[in-house]
Amino acid sequence: MKDFTRRRFGQTVAAAAALAGSSIPGFAFGQTGAAGSEADHDSGRKFPDGFLWGCATAAYQIEGGAKEGGRGPSVWDVFSHTPGKTHNGDTGDVADDSYHLYKEDVRLLKNLGVQTYRMSISWPRIFPEGKGQPNPAGLDYYNRVVDELLANNIAPFVTLFHWDLPAALPGGWQSRSTSLAFSDYAAYIARQLSDRVKHFMTTNEIACFTDLAYRDGSFAPGLKLPLKDVYQIRHHGILAHGLGVQAIRANAKGPVQVGLAENAQVFVPVMETEEHIRAAQRATRVMNAPFLTALMEGKYIDEYLHSIGSDEPRVEAGDFAAIASPLDFVGDNVYICNYVSAAGTPTGFEIEPWPSSYPRMYSRWITISPECAYWAIRNVCDLWHPKAMFITENGTPSADVLTADGRVADLDRVMYLRNHIANVHRAAVEGYPIKGYFLWSLMDNFEWDDGYSTRCGIHYVDYKTLKRYPKLSAEWYRELIKRNEVV
Ligand code: FCB
Repeated sequence: MKDFTRRRFGQTVAAAAALAGSSIPGFAFGQTGAAGSEADHDSGRKFPDGFLWGCATAAYQIEGGAKEGGRGPSVWDVFSHTPGKTHNGDTGDVADDSYHLYKEDVRLLKNLGVQTYRMSISWPRIFPEGKGQPNPAGLDYYNRVVDELLANNIAPFVTLFHWDLPAALPGGWQSRSTSLAFSDYAAYIARQLSDRVKHFMTTNEIACFTDLAYRDGSFAPGLKLPLKDVYQIRHHGILAHGLGVQAIRANAKGPVQVGLAENAQVFVPVMETEEHIRAAQRATRVMNAPFLTALMEGKYIDEYLHSIGSDEPRVEAGDFAAIASPLDFVGDNVYICNYVSAAGTPTGFEIEPWPSSYPRMYSRWITISPECAYWAIRNVCDLWHPKAMFITENGTPSADVLTADGRVADLDRVMYLRNHIANVHRAAVEGYPIKGYFLWSLMDNFEWDDGYSTRCGIHYVDYKTLKRYPKLSAEWYRELIKRNEVV
């Protein structure tokens, strides 16, 4: 793995800113049985009835078929084919080949017993040029996937933009017209799929496709622009989200639920006392100012404007009305957090540095701080009272080893997931409107600049044969879903 990825992003920003069943061998599904009498027993760890369990993936990370069915290139095709940009020069050309193997992937989901699947649509499969003429073959692929999911009683949660921007769009997110093109694409998808898809997310992790892509250069298109430009790009990102919400609502064939998948920085109070809890809330508002805060409050808050000074982005009339379009749910991707204390600083909080001895997962950037799942929900709900929330991603890499008999005993992943989900449970029983959880990821896949060196799946993918093997975590998740309770 490389030294710097987006994962350290939250930490560096925080520190820097003064504000600134397929019949596969392996785990024998369904043999742990005994749900009967145990299931009737109230363990105190049950989730509310109707809580939705799912897995998440993203188009470029799993599909492959990069040149098939009339798909145009995305910025990630260009970036990953540029020497030195991804680990080992890995690309998403083949990935998990879900483009061809999607039926098998739906079978994996079915075996887990999930009610939902969070997938994304590849914009350049639908509009190879980013705009203009749609590509019917691209849409057909998603029609097939959606139909296969529904035939198996799995509700698709569709993300419209998970970073694979059509390379043909001039200037990418530097150009305001990309936000408008996104809105047209969103309208088209809503017209085509909303008879069957009832949950849409506009964008995934706005900070990643803006800051990491145009400021740090670690993500496609890999630019390192001056901050003034970056603030404008962030604005185009949140504007695309807002216009997308409006376009989906205006074009949907029936009632749909619209939200997004953010990765709001999470702040955990160093201790659960009133003053530190308030500090965590303040930190959440201030540190997410360019993104979730702007969406929820319909403005750039003073602290943000103050920190960027004369580099303020151009905002046109009506932008914030779109950006603050009411949402049916807020999705949050939760992996990491920072601990925060009350302080006598102007912002009223101080972000604690990580001791070098602080334990981590098999990852430079994932610290073991499972309570981030609880505070991710609580801070957002206490600040902005969304109608509903979903954890739209949560998971971890492990040093997975496939044994000769097809097993992967990923105990550390199970530990990570169990502790996070226990914290989601805490939020649910305290009455926060958390409605579902999506595990990242259904299977190992192309992990952006880390290529295939990082495995986050609960199914192991042998990249030579493309065969999928359930890990212990898949068996564990299946049991949890069956009982609707932490196991
Ligand atoms: C999230 C991304 C997702 C995946 C996980 C590990 O930030 O949304 O695509 O890379 O991290």
